[in-house]
Amino acid sequence: MAQKYIPLKDHDAPIKVLFTGYLCAVGIGYLFALVQILFTHGMADGKFGLSIDDIVYSYYGNRSGTVLETKLNGSMKENATEKQRFQIIQWIRDGAELEEYKSSGVEKIIEERCTLCHNKEASGIPDFSKFETLKALTAEDEGATFSSLTRVSHIHLFGISFIFMFVGLIFSFSETTATPFKCIAIGMPYVFLIADILSWWLTKINPMFAWLVVFAGTGMGASFMFMWVTSILEMWLYQYAYVEEWGVLGQKVRETFAAIFTQERRDRSKALVQTLSQKLLTVWKEQLYPAIKGLFAKDSTPKG
Ligand code: HEC
Repeated sequence: MAQKYIPLKDHDAPIKVLFTGYLCAVGIGYLFALVQILFTHGMADGKFGLSIDDIVYSYYGNRSGTVLETKLNGSMKENATEKQRFQIIQWIRDGAELEEYKSSGVEKIIEERCTLCHNKEASGIPDFSKFETLKALTAEDEGATFSSLTRVSHIHLFGISFIFMFVGLIFSFSETTATPFKCIAIGMPYVFLIADILSWWLTKINPMFAWLVVFAGTGMGASFMFMWVTSILEMWLYQYAYVEEWGVLGQKVRETFAAIFTQERRDRSKALVQTLSQKLLTVWKEQLYPAIKGLFAKDSTPKG
């Protein structure tokens, strides 16, 4: 059958460079996105690392309290006295009204104890010189707000569909994947993208859907990886990867290694490593270890 398109491997070098540059930039972007997920959502339950709890807290929230209360009993505990904290919590439970904020003296406590850090100049933490900012933290912790979800949803839908537009377009010039599978690989990210966004909203309503977030995210990543790797291989390593097969590539790698690391060179470096480690061991035994031991001995003698 006649080809209806130019296969990736037959494109001109400038086009290959363009495609590769784009794929590399987008690939690095993907890695940064993963790091960001780890540091924002990953910390939601107070522990490092991603878990289903993180996803539930991020989207559904911790419905048994307010953020302000949770913090006053947690990482902000040291910033106010027992009595002041009690006063603030009392005010929250009474409805956190502006009038009472001023009359009950909570405003003074916040000014005295909190705006030291929580002010206009501080970045990344809320500015308590604005009442509305403080007030916002006295609502039930319902996770992501509808307005933030709306914002992130449309940014994700527009932005990510663009990324997959070009990754898919580049991949559509590949020739090693059968047409039906190509259609699946190209269409899948869009299905997963919509499922991913939908799953955030569903998780906001019911924490059960946190699993769908994980599933959709993994599916999107898998399609991305597959298209990325296939495109790069076909452009630059077609001969090795698809004609002469990986075995041949492996053989070439081994041959190259063998040529660089000849037996003689290997023996020499082995000997070098041996003498070096021998020397290090002697230094450790005769100088470092006694020195450290001496430090500890000094430390444990009573002062006086
Ligand atoms: C020494 C500086 C400092 C002081 C004083 C301080 N905070 Fe904080 N606050 C921080 C930092 C840093 C964070 C972010 C890290 C964290 O969440 O623990 C934070 C976070 C918070 C958060 C969470 C904000 C969010 O959006 O998740 C709340 C609520 C809070 N502080 C309340 C208070 C209150 C109330 C006081 C006064 C009693 C106070 N803080 C005093 C430094 C301070």
